[in-house]
Amino acid sequence: MSQAPSVATDDSARIDTRFGDLRIRRLAGHIGGEVLGLKLGAELSEQRFAAVQAALLAHKVLFFRGQGHLDDEAHQAFGARFGRTVAHPTVPAPSGTKLFELDASKGGGRADSWHTDVTFVDAFPKISILRGVKIPAYGGDTVWANTAKAYERLPESLKKLAEQLWAVHSNDYDYGADRTDAASADRVRHHREVFVSAVYEAEHPLVHVHPETGERALLLGHFIKKFIGVSSAESARLFDLFQSRVIRLENTVRWSWQQDDVAIWDNRATQHYAVNDYGDQPRLVRRVTVHGEQAIAVDGQRSRTRRRPEASNDSQLDALITRTA
Ligand SMILES: [Fe+2]
Repeated sequence: MSQAPSVATDDSARIDTRFGDLRIRRLAGHIGGEVLGLKLGAELSEQRFAAVQAALLAHKVLFFRGQGHLDDEAHQAFGARFGRTVAHPTVPAPSGTKLFELDASKGGGRADSWHTDVTFVDAFPKISILRGVKIPAYGGDTVWANTAKAYERLPESLKKLAEQLWAVHSNDYDYGADRTDAASADRVRHHREVFVSAVYEAEHPLVHVHPETGERALLLGHFIKKFIGVSSAESARLFDLFQSRVIRLENTVRWSWQQDDVAIWDNRATQHYAVNDYGDQPRLVRRVTVHGEQAIAVDGQRSRTRRRPEASNDSQLDALITRTA
């Protein structure tokens, strides 16, 4: 039997050494880096944590293999290093936590549509930290897209148009529109009963200025209901025009999960999509979500709340969560 020829591999061109002693393997041309050999946790030194934050701003999404030491508590404690962690506004967290759980065996457990997390509130999360608890033997990858690169690559004329547009984002969006799997009727029902148990609406600029990097990025994704001041039909066309720029393959990175992987993304500069190609295999991931600010338009205006249920401001929610913890 012949053996495959051995090929010398030189990874040095792929390794990004700009961030302290972190070793980061670039995974694609415009987004995504795998941090090698780092054990995540609340106890990371200030210096190393600052390097992780800086690398996250540059790469938009970072991946870490072999983080099996993180349980729910340690995952949340690590997340708290980035800022105030928040529960999902409508989906109940696993008991005593602020985690957002995606369990593929349950309705609402498959995020197979392009989105930025929780943009139906004005101050949407800045960072999400996802941990692979149970991963299918094959399938179930997640893809991220760089929304700053999407803006940067627009022709000037479309930049000008985009900078003037604002959109309404809501959790009560057309959930069934791009879902075609056999279980979609059940999923639509779950979406209505749980995800939209209270309706939120926020207005965001289509182009926002990242508060840390100053980069401009497109703010789109499946929570968009319509653009302000144009018809529904025109909104749909505008959405397709700009969304197709975001999800061009050149702007993306695809991660093939292993158990105990962690992915951290800058929710202000990315969209993501969980590929739903693993059938009935179990898949369970848990997310820590870090509170963010209202988006800032190029003229300095801030995102606005259009609608939110009473008794749902963050401090009241936090109080509820603390009481039930
Ligand atoms: Fe998500």
